[in-house]
Amino acid sequence: MVTKLTLQLLLTTLILTTTKTSASVFNNVTCTNTKTFSPNTTFHSNLKTLLSSLSSNVINDVRFFHTTSGKDSDKVYGLYMCRGDVPFALCRECVGFATLKIPSSCPSSKEAVIWYNECLLRYSYRFIFSKMETWPRYKIEIPMGDPGLLQSRGFYAGLRSVLNELPKEAAVSLSGFNKYAVKQENASVSVTLYGLAQCTPDLSAGDCRRCVDDAVEELPKACCGGSIGETVLFPSCFVRYETYPFYQHSGASASITTSVNGGRNIPTHVIAIIVVLVVILVAISCIGCCLLWIKSKKTRKASDRENRNVLLSLTFEVNRCLGFITCLSGFGYED
Ligand SMILES: *[C@@H]1O[C@H](CO)[C@@H](O)[C@H](O)[C@H]1NC(C)=O
Ligand SMILES: *[C@@H]1O[C@H](CO)[C@@H](O)[C@H](O)[C@H]1NC(C)=O
Ligand SMILES: *[C@@H]1O[C@H](CO)[C@@H](O)[C@H](O)[C@H]1NC(C)=O
Repeated sequence: MVTKLTLQLLLTTLILTTTKTSASVFNNVTCTNTKTFSPNTTFHSNLKTLLSSLSSNVINDVRFFHTTSGKDSDKVYGLYMCRGDVPFALCRECVGFATLKIPSSCPSSKEAVIWYNECLLRYSYRFIFSKMETWPRYKIEIPMGDPGLLQSRGFYAGLRSVLNELPKEAAVSLSGFNKYAVKQENASVSVTLYGLAQCTPDLSAGDCRRCVDDAVEELPKACCGGSIGETVLFPSCFVRYETYPFYQHSGASASITTSVNGGRNIPTHVIAIIVVLVVILVAISCIGCCLLWIKSKKTRKASDRENRNVLLSLTFEVNRCLGFITCLSGFGYED
């Protein structure tokens, strides 16, 4: 009984803490306000269906998904895409956040797009699939950086080399497994530039290249207006560069493969094992504490008691302790 309740409590706590520690990084949400809908209309309910369909389809390593809901003039088109290198658990979490945040940020827009570091999600009243779109757009610049570096020729030479390569590589990547392109280049003896570009995989290679070309146009190519890290986000593609390896290109492929093959069972097993270990540890320390407490209480009275009585009341006290723990876990769990 105690173990079962404690286990449930710990499982809940563990799940809550693991989901809280890996929050997605929100960048921007843009609501297109030229067309709006009213609450409780068919469009509204189609949109709700669409968003729940998007979030429930983030399974089995599916990093891009598009679907529609409803028909005729109330039809809603929607899609999500995760950055190709992020572990799939973060992809799923990101899409989950996006489907909750987009309706609260854009409560009456018939079209919207939301960007996180890990994913993008958009919906519209019009057909948006396989179309290259570069508006709305959002740009992030890291405001600070070593001025010496930002005024050196080497930095812009390295940046040009990264940015010139990404449009072509992103287009080529669409026919490969990864669907995103990365490129790194030295910017000085001690600084390396890392770039990443990705298109929604429903684009043609030509459209992808044009999209990334357009995004790269927003970035500095010559001295000296640059910044040590920038991101350009479009509905159909994005580009980012930094002076640190922000993507997990080589290291991550193994963990991505694990989540593909393992499905959703492995994490549950791992969690179960951790929980059992934690429960055993907690139980041992609780009983230990109880015994110590009882012992210190008993030693004072031990002289005028028989051993059997001590043992009996010891059992009683242990039961009280366990009852107290059960109570605690019960309360924690009910809440
Ligand atoms: C998103 O970006 C647009 C365009 O830059 C800006 O007007 C808007 O305030 C931003 N919204 C949020 C929530 O950051
Ligand atoms: C929409 O429906 C909800 C729940 O059924 C209700 O509380 C709300 O008042 C309705 N809003 C409008 C504008 O009809
Ligand atoms: C970058 O710099 C490192 C160390 O200075 C060097 O080994 C490497 O060859 C350089 N890479 C390129 C592409 O120049």
